[in-house]
Amino acid sequence: MSKLDPSSDEFRAAGHRMIDWIADYLGGVDRYPVLARVKPGEIESRLPDAPRQDGRPYAALADDFQSKLLPGVTHWNHPAFFAYFAITGSQAGILAELLTAALNTNGMLWRTSPSLTELETVTLRWLREALGLPDDLFGIINDTASINSFLALAAAREALGLDIRGLGMTGRDLPPLRVYCSEHAHSSIDKAALALGIGASGIVHIESDEKFRMRPDALETAIARHRAAGALPCFVVATTGTTSTGAVDPVRAVGEIARREKIWLHVDSAYAGSATVCPEFRWIWDGLEYADSIVVNPHKWFFTPIDCSVLYTRKPDVLRQTFSLVAEYLKTTDSSELNYMDYGLQLGRRFRALKLWYVMEHYGLERLRGVIRDHVRYAERLADELRAKPGVEVMTQSFSVVVFRLTAGDEATMAAMERMNASGRLFLSHTKLRGRYGIRVAIGNGATEWEHVARVLEFLS
Ligand SMILES: Cc1ncc(COP(=O)(O)O)c(C=O)c1O
Repeated sequence: MSKLDPSSDEFRAAGHRMIDWIADYLGGVDRYPVLARVKPGEIESRLPDAPRQDGRPYAALADDFQSKLLPGVTHWNHPAFFAYFAITGSQAGILAELLTAALNTNGMLWRTSPSLTELETVTLRWLREALGLPDDLFGIINDTASINSFLALAAAREALGLDIRGLGMTGRDLPPLRVYCSEHAHSSIDKAALALGIGASGIVHIESDEKFRMRPDALETAIARHRAAGALPCFVVATTGTTSTGAVDPVRAVGEIARREKIWLHVDSAYAGSATVCPEFRWIWDGLEYADSIVVNPHKWFFTPIDCSVLYTRKPDVLRQTFSLVAEYLKTTDSSELNYMDYGLQLGRRFRALKLWYVMEHYGLERLRGVIRDHVRYAERLADELRAKPGVEVMTQSFSVVVFRLTAGDEATMAAMERMNASGRLFLSHTKLRGRYGIRVAIGNGATEWEHVARVLEFLS
């Protein structure tokens, strides 16, 4: 047989069955325990040791998927998934993912799929407007905020004027570089700094205030101290919606310092950025005129299936200067073509804009606003109800994140969380604030209703 797929009949039938299964799944995810109940190695032990020489029909794969793999799936699309940051594989997003795989286009150059490139440009312009962001921002989609922050730091490092692209960082006399972020910034900032040769000693975690926000005075002091010691400040990160608590760093105050000190300001709004589709949350952008780059994750709270993270920057020329490298076989003659490969590490690029477009077009911004507002309302209500419970302390609530603890102590807090997770009815994760454990409830799935959030209360008599 010379062709891989000689006919589309089997595909059509299996595809119809799969869509039916997905529709039933989405309508009844609540039947499954949120957190997978398997032990390490259990799924692996169910699978054959070696690949098959002959193929099997799709029906056999569907059976194996259900019996062997599904039990090991933690259901991120469950309406009572509140761990880390809840996300949504929305129906619109799922359909777009199907089309993306069918087209299998690779957007390395404009000409390798003009629609991929131009839809990315258009959806990111729409998203910018939808979130009330300034219109002088260039946008690009990559897989994750971790990668986007890495790209931003690489550009900031290049912008220092040390010709790191040309000469590298070793074998010459360079000042030690410094990256500043709050003690509550996401670990991806640290990882980017490690990968880019800043070194762990160059990462400065600035203290936060009583509301877990970066303290600008502490930032200023640290920068002055490092300059006096001969170090070169390179990158400041303000997080608007931190991972542990949803706290919002004061972008304006941090930005004023960054501008004065000529340091690249990166705003990490991977989580809460999506909430600014509602005008009442746009206060988090106050001071954004100082930002050189911003990250927003539609795959977190904008109902777009993972992965889809957006990097906006006012300095696309610096990003390009950092990353553009055009091999002979990629050269084109028309310089008016936008080739996104010039603005990052990846050459091959998925058609991620398609799912963002499907989500924005199918639901419309008003529907998205409604769901986000409900999530914030549920979080506020949960915080109120938790405060009314004896023995429970609400440590913080911001956007759709609530963190609480049991006054009986860390052990009791963690035991309560384990009990909730073992029930299969909900899934929560924890954090540590000022040395004490807290249970995080992060609401963000498009199917979540109050009754799902209220499950937290059932376990706290
Ligand atoms: C504030 C913040 N930034 C960055 C990230 C990393 O996101 P990603 O998984 O897209 O790399 C997270 C993840 O939770 C986050 O909360």
